Amino acid sequence: MPPVGVPLVIEKKKWAVRASEFAKSTFNPIRFIVDSMKMEQHPDKYMISLSIGDPTIFGNLKPHNATIEAVHNALDKMTFNGYAPTVGYFEARSAVAEFYTTPETIISPNDVILSSGCTHALDLCISALASRGQNILMPRPGFCMYRTLARGHGIHSKFYNLKPEASWEIDLAHLESLIDGNTVAIIVNNPNNPCGSVYSKEHLLGILQIASRYCLPIIADEIYDFFIFKGEEFHPMASLSKNVPILTCGGIAKRFLVPGWRMGWVLIHDRNNVLNVEVRGALNALTQRIMGSNTLVQGALPDMLRNTPKSFFAETIATVQTNAEIAFEKLQQCPGLFPGIHQELRIGSHLLKPYCGDCAILDIPWE
Ligand SMILES: Cc1ncc(COP(=O)(O)O)c(C=O)c1O
Repeated sequence: MPPVGVPLVIEKKKWAVRASEFAKSTFNPIRFIVDSMKMEQHPDKYMISLSIGDPTIFGNLKPHNATIEAVHNALDKMTFNGYAPTVGYFEARSAVAEFYTTPETIISPNDVILSSGCTHALDLCISALASRGQNILMPRPGFCMYRTLARGHGIHSKFYNLKPEASWEIDLAHLESLIDGNTVAIIVNNPNNPCGSVYSKEHLLGILQIASRYCLPIIADEIYDFFIFKGEEFHPMASLSKNVPILTCGGIAKRFLVPGWRMGWVLIHDRNNVLNVEVRGALNALTQRIMGSNTLVQGALPDMLRNTPKSFFAETIATVQTNAEIAFEKLQQCPGLFPGIHQELRIGSHLLKPYCGDCAILDIPWE
């Protein structure tokens, strides 16, 4: 007899191979649209694809030679072809720790977990903190992957509003009103995609105050760390936290201009060892599913982080800023479009506003 609750195997007359609940509840709206898009290009016009934030598409933003060299050297060494520890090679984690350590925020290699891009880092954090039926707070509008990663596990996404009239800062009262007994974490994305906002120190402290009041850890998506225009100042969330545990997710995709190399990380900031009880162990266990970063790029990471000059980042940002200014100027000339930088956006008299949990922020009646 099979154990109680296990269905008897019966001979079936026809095939009925079903997909899992996990697969069926996994949905990435951007990829769904982009991957299935069949667009015919206007024969006389050049199409500019603005669908995904991939800096390599047009070929004008190239990685620095030192970044490329680092991978060549790692390949030639022939010592990075095997399996690494599941959290990543010690040398690579040390290099990330060194890259992010500041006088206020000391990071040890044991606080670093390497991942397959920042998306995987987010997946590790979401999966380590939340169980089926629990919820995580996330920004609206926001990067749609947060919801995609949570949904498959039956984790609910609760969306806090960003305020277009206040440079897309978080509506803190709204965020606080969403917290309930099943809330287990807050995702904060700064600098922000898609709104481009960079939060002030005061605003970040406001978020931390709420997290502290309800004892909620923060998943800080800082993939765009320091990727900011002149006049802005970026403050890593962890540099301001006194007691709130912060899991910072980052990677090389944006600043190093190599999103396809799939290298990211989680930095564990936990001044009071709150996460030692279970969450460090949970993160570690999840890395043992061996879905992590490839060893070749891990081998290259120390040279990449140490030898890519700071001036390269400044030059990349200057190029992106110039391009943004050109786009802004050209869009201003389009009848009916009222582009804004870090402001509310309008098409005609219609305000584009937080609409759903994803990047779609259009709220226009289509006549
Ligand atoms: C806010 C945000 N977080 C994370 C990611 C994913 O980064 P990665 O390509 O390293 O997975 C992106 C990519 O566009 C992003 O915009």
